[in-house]
Amino acid sequence: MVDNIKFMQEVMSIKKIDIRNQKVLIRVDFNVPLDNEFNINDDTRIRETIPTINHCIDNGAKSIILVSHLGRPKDKNIRFSLKHLVKRVERLLGRNITFAENLESISSMLPSLPQGSVILLENIRFYKEEEQNNEQFAKSLANLCDIYVNDAFGASHRKHASTYGIAQFAKHKVAGLLLKKEIDSFAKALTHPLKPVLLIVGGSKVSSKLTLLSNILDCVDKIIIGGAMSNTFLQAIGYNMQNSLVEEHLMGDAIDILRSAKSKGVKIYLPVDAVCTDNPQNPKIIKITPAQDIPEGLMSVDLGPATVKLFAEVIHDCETIIWNGPLGIYEVSQFSRGTFSLAHALADTYAYSIIGGGDTADAIDKAGERDNMSFTSTGGGASLELLEGKVLPAFEVLDR
Ligand code: 3PG
Repeated sequence: MVDNIKFMQEVMSIKKIDIRNQKVLIRVDFNVPLDNEFNINDDTRIRETIPTINHCIDNGAKSIILVSHLGRPKDKNIRFSLKHLVKRVERLLGRNITFAENLESISSMLPSLPQGSVILLENIRFYKEEEQNNEQFAKSLANLCDIYVNDAFGASHRKHASTYGIAQFAKHKVAGLLLKKEIDSFAKALTHPLKPVLLIVGGSKVSSKLTLLSNILDCVDKIIIGGAMSNTFLQAIGYNMQNSLVEEHLMGDAIDILRSAKSKGVKIYLPVDAVCTDNPQNPKIIKITPAQDIPEGLMSVDLGPATVKLFAEVIHDCETIIWNGPLGIYEVSQFSRGTFSLAHALADTYAYSIIGGGDTADAIDKAGERDNMSFTSTGGGASLELLEGKVLPAFEVLDR
């Protein structure tokens, strides 16, 4: 498990390369949530990339081309245009930037732009060749620059032309400051951690966390399991979870994980009570019950107060804590207490706390505790794959 992290830590940092008068292409992850009027709901991913862009400006880069995807467009739809991001990038950078509709316009504008210009390319996924990792397309991207920088941790698990294929043709390919910060933060939690190490794992499906759970047993001392995925574990040990979401076909895997954890001396903590309801979106009944006594017709949707107390005690006993997945339906305010209370408990510790991106980061944010965590990752899928023990493709192709 830690071998993948050590390997990824060896990538060359942008700080190690002379970028004076060079054309730099930075793959960023500006895949930020937008509302229906195209306002940005959370600009963390843009803010986290500003140090790398500033590093290029401060060190005399000739031009800086920013390449990102936004969403999963099927065609060129304005909803997914990076035009919506221009003003925010300009505000955060404190300078004007140039928007480029396509690769050809970058090539034609480059010679006339002043030193240190920043260009933002339209959504790279408007080219179908991007996700196909098309070789010719990757080459055209590489031809735009002297140095390729990957700072898109959130997209580093994707084998696409701008995250992977481009490296085959770029003369220099290095890691941006965010990419380095991400991998070093995970390394701190997993390679030489202060013990005990705790993994908090939640989310709706055991199926999406099976590899994580099997791989991480050698790196942690304790695991808290919450969210709907804990229902499968509880049903597997004999409780009747009634209408709760249970993956019946994975009950055998759940038992295997419990057995394997026991044989390795890893303690697993499951909920002892639950907040139950008839309908999470439109509840008529909300009840707190022991996990063994979920009433007929109801489903578990959040941790009960006894579980919150128990889990908070486990949290306070640990020195390194990794959290991946919310512990209840936190998007519905009545069922957010479990997740938010444990976010507060984590914020109260002196432990090194590392938060997986995606939903987990969003939940910690909504609990108002993002600034009180040691590190919050900008990658949901990427951080999960890293914790599963994989080498992320974008790291694989960079210089070392
Ligand atoms: C993310 O939001 O997890 C990244 O930007 C990757 O997006 P994708 O899952 O659409 O590839």
